Amino acid sequence: MDPGQLEREALAAVAAASSTDEIEAVRVEYLGRKSALKLALREVRDRETGIALNAVRVALEEAIDSRTAQLARAELDRRLREETVDVTLRAGDGSRGHLHLITQIRREVEDVFLGLGYEVYDGREVDTVWHNFTALNTPQGHPSRSHRDTFYVADDIVLRTHTSNAQIRVMEQGQPPVYIVSLGRCYRRDTADATHNPIFHQVECLAVDRGITLADLKGTIERFSSAIFGPGRRVRMRTGYFPFTEPSVEFDVSCFLCERAGCTVCKHSGWIEMGGAGVVDPDVFVAVGWDPEEWSGFAFGLGLERIAMLRHGLPDLRLLWNGDLRVMEQFPS
Ligand code: FA5
Repeated sequence: MDPGQLEREALAAVAAASSTDEIEAVRVEYLGRKSALKLALREVRDRETGIALNAVRVALEEAIDSRTAQLARAELDRRLREETVDVTLRAGDGSRGHLHLITQIRREVEDVFLGLGYEVYDGREVDTVWHNFTALNTPQGHPSRSHRDTFYVADDIVLRTHTSNAQIRVMEQGQPPVYIVSLGRCYRRDTADATHNPIFHQVECLAVDRGITLADLKGTIERFSSAIFGPGRRVRMRTGYFPFTEPSVEFDVSCFLCERAGCTVCKHSGWIEMGGAGVVDPDVFVAVGWDPEEWSGFAFGLGLERIAMLRHGLPDLRLLWNGDLRVMEQFPS
């Protein structure tokens, strides 16, 4: 065998190979175990022939390796060119969702209070009976504690029935003064009807400082109502009862539709019932270890679904939660 001729012939085959498959075939033919070169190398008896044949082998290996790399690169380039994915293709009509009306209202309320210098506090949806009832001065026999009204997770753990549990958590963790709002889900074993749902949302507001009075409460509710229902809202307080406030009030806001002339939204009274409020009961301060002689405060709470219903004229709060897009799409964010 003439090593020079073998090398010329093999290099020509390398140059002619036009794919990685073809160059692999060339490698097998000229460098494989049964190739003429490998068989000849096995038979070598003298040094010169050995040197000559090994030089051919090294030259072929290098030529084949470099051609293989070249062809592999070309094949990859071709695939990248040909197999492109058009990532700009739009799925469907490209429409986007938006925030649920209750989430929108929640954020609006948070913004109002952030503007007044309050902090937003995330309360617990699952809390102890102590935080939901006992520390809030709710007596043992109070009907709201019963298993018929409240979802119990264990003997001493409930799904919170109002956001007022946040008052206790905030006061336990911090020091006065405190100005917080806390918004979120609440749970009661109420039968679903046009104005009730077992799961609903409340906003809680708590201010504790030196010398806080009912006048501060009234002014704060006025600011809040005007921001949510439109400027110029007036607030009316009626006596009420909550175990954790003394005195307690129910508050109404002047009707934003008829400006108190009388309409169906305010049931011709000119006023719309909004929620409960009051001056923080001294016993609540005692429960969290704060001195009721030094600190005073107000708190109020109301339902977010109620805000949505009033503001948008929704006849039934279940419309908010049954997932009907025809309703939801009327309230884009
Ligand atoms: C309370 O829950 C008191 N924690 C409010 C409070 C806070 C008083 C701070 C004093 C100081 P009430 O049970 O009235 O109060 O509920 C307040 C509002 O939550 C109601 O006016 C109503 O809008 C809403 N609400 C109550 N139960 C439901 C329900 N099942 N579905 C929808 N909304 C509800």
